[in-house]
Amino acid sequence: MRILVTGGCGFIGSNFVRLILSERPDWEVVNLDKLTYAGRLENLQDMADNPRYRFIHGDICDPQAVAEAMRGCQFAVNFAAETHVDRSLLGASHFIDTDVKGVLVLLEEARRVGLARFIQISTDEVYGSIEQGSFTEESVLNPRNPYAASKAGGDRMAYAYWATYGVPVIITRASNNYGPYQYPEKLIPLFVTNALRDEPLPLYGDGRNVRDWLFVEDHCRALLFLLEHGQPGEVYNIAGGNERENIEVTRAVLRLLGKPESLIRFVADRPGHDRRYSLDASKLHRLGWQPQVPFEVGLERTVRWYVDNRWWWEPIKDHDGEFRRYYELQYGARLA
Ligand code: NAD
Ligand code: DAU
Repeated sequence: MRILVTGGCGFIGSNFVRLILSERPDWEVVNLDKLTYAGRLENLQDMADNPRYRFIHGDICDPQAVAEAMRGCQFAVNFAAETHVDRSLLGASHFIDTDVKGVLVLLEEARRVGLARFIQISTDEVYGSIEQGSFTEESVLNPRNPYAASKAGGDRMAYAYWATYGVPVIITRASNNYGPYQYPEKLIPLFVTNALRDEPLPLYGDGRNVRDWLFVEDHCRALLFLLEHGQPGEVYNIAGGNERENIEVTRAVLRLLGKPESLIRFVADRPGHDRRYSLDASKLHRLGWQPQVPFEVGLERTVRWYVDNRWWWEPIKDHDGEFRRYYELQYGARLA
């Protein structure tokens, strides 16, 4: 069995590659990654010498790179994407390139080589915001920011290749992930690493937006489960079942680190900020998968990982000009 993982140097992709190599000893993994600012070779440096692992530096928008990477594979899981909502508000064209056109290139090649399974990693953001209740897989899509809109494009393109050509596509829509190796632009790793340095935690708006937190290892296990038990042509919601207001998450991070709440800074809101995400994941539960890691346990493990792995995030924050430029653009005026 050979599996193509695209975007395997990112947060969820690298956790997934590690899971596959340890839990499926007879599988080979090919990782195709463009190494954008979010793609870090060091995320998988412990796997680099594994004979069952091969890294290819390339773009999913490049048909030749995709053909080389998919050669001999039976499965593919597409994690490759531009993923940060705030960055999509600063400019969205490369979101369309990777999150829509790149998916098309992958699907064309999957069709050409007759792949046995193709998982398109979509997101709960394609449904938009919900004040009460939860979205099922049948709910209307209503993406409300450029990132979410581009992901909805990739999601529906994948479905179109199933409906039109019978490419055995499975689409997953997961809630907010957290855990080791998450780039420190996202809420939890940004706040943990800022707090460790006694820097302010910029909380948008009133801090009462709700996200449902899914530990990354639970997400990866759900994806492996779906590769082996999911039905082609189907969509599956993957939820952590841990809805929390951002302010609660922030306070929990500060408590775990023994830092004061005076570090919290309420700042200008994200434009169009979705108030609440909530998924009904009973379809996946009926198939036989449940998350295993309670939020309090996962958060403690995550905070501990950032405390213990400064080698990983300090170079990003201190020496990566890209991060500093972005931080100034996103937070400079907000925190001034
Ligand atoms: P990430 O930003 O940490 O990593 C993205 C990876 O994709 C990076 O390694 C990057 O180099 C690579 N990449 C980007 N453009 C590429 C291209 N054109 N060709 C090849 N590689 C490219 O992202 P993540 O948080 O790990 O998210 C992975 C996937 O899961 C994405 O599709 C995202 O939309 C989806 N998702 C994420 C979450 C979450 O909470 N993080 C939740 C639901 C769904
Ligand atoms: O829901 C799934 C999505 O979760 C994924 O599809 C995205 O790829 C992923 O980035 C994530 O999107 P969010 O926008 O929900 O994640 P983020 O970590 O950026 O923000 C989480 C919440 O925290 C959100 O309500 C905005 C708020 N926030 C975020 C940042 C970065 C702040 O208040 N301050 C911040 O500085």
